[in-house]
Amino acid sequence: MIPVILAGGKGERFWPLSRKHRPKQFLSLDGSGESLLQTTANRLLSLAENWEGLWVVTSTLLADGVHKQLPQLPEKNILAEPEGRDTAPAVAWTTIEIARRHGEDAVIGFFPADHWIGEPAIFEKTLKAAKELAATEDVIVTLGVKPSYPATGYGYIEQGEKLGVFDDFPAYKVVRFTEKPDQETAEKFLSTGKFSWNGGIFVFRAGVMLNELRTYVPDLVKTLEEKGADAYFELSKISIDYALMEKTQKTCVIPVEFAWDDLGDWNALGRLHESKDSNVELAHHVGMETKNSILFSENKDDIIVTLGVDDLLVVREGNVTLIAHKERTQEIKQLLKKLAENP
Ligand code: GDD
Ligand code: MG
Repeated sequence: MIPVILAGGKGERFWPLSRKHRPKQFLSLDGSGESLLQTTANRLLSLAENWEGLWVVTSTLLADGVHKQLPQLPEKNILAEPEGRDTAPAVAWTTIEIARRHGEDAVIGFFPADHWIGEPAIFEKTLKAAKELAATEDVIVTLGVKPSYPATGYGYIEQGEKLGVFDDFPAYKVVRFTEKPDQETAEKFLSTGKFSWNGGIFVFRAGVMLNELRTYVPDLVKTLEEKGADAYFELSKISIDYALMEKTQKTCVIPVEFAWDDLGDWNALGRLHESKDSNVELAHHVGMETKNSILFSENKDDIIVTLGVDDLLVVREGNVTLIAHKERTQEIKQLLKKLAENP
């Protein structure tokens, strides 16, 4: 398999730790000292066989950073998008380039750079099964994560009839793919017991993906084939989930058994780090009657002192202090827009 890391996101929901030139994929969030990007690359290395077999698609702004963080990765395997247009153009462009270099039968896997995987050995076995499935059937393989709550930040996959067993892993046809449903729909999906979360990983043969893209987003493929990176200035922003996954009939799913988390926003840190008095303290924190809060300081000499407050997110980074309700971290993106208008 040729694994490709999608590493062009801005990681805005991790602001102010995540900044323009230093988005979350370049940061170490789990205390390991390795950045999310480095951990993702190391996890994919045996699937790729060696550094020559691994690709990264990112933005021109971040390409240098990717190179510095992954010095073993050949520069020709780093695709730099002039401007981020979300994941549909990133997937389409990379697939076109890989098909040109390795042919349409190449099996490609797309992987987000912002995931935490609990059991890398099971992850690898599952991906080998996905590779076998994609090599033999004309399908786009997704990985289905057992949902634990009605999340609205993920895609939902409705499992259909069984397709077969690949390397001991059962695979199923997908009846329906719904990206980021509203709360009510997510609750409805969960109550049926037929849905899993989309793990954000897609495995397919280059030719299969190109056919599907030509059917559902023909202009995207045409413009990218004709103009390469220059096409970006004409492209609109859309994720692969909306552009293709909600429409194609070729999706199948392998339910996954490894522990999985999308480190999407500050609350994810609460799931990664042990909490003390139900607070996640990644800072020198002194508090009285403070519960369920996340406290983060980049500079460990800073002291965060709290009194009689619950459910807060407090982040100190450089000359910025962010104080937010812990349940509203998804809205940091909107907050940044406002900040750009009134700096
Ligand atoms: N190259 C490139 N260009 N990469 C990008 C771009 C872009 O314009 N935009 C985002 N990415 C990268 C991000 O850095 C991340 O690694 C990955 O693509 C996924 O983007 P997210 O923005 O994190 O997507 P999401 O979490 O909202 O949703 C996706 O992942 C969920 C699981 O983690 C969807 O596929 C959901 O259906 C899925 O449940
Ligand atoms: Mg994500």
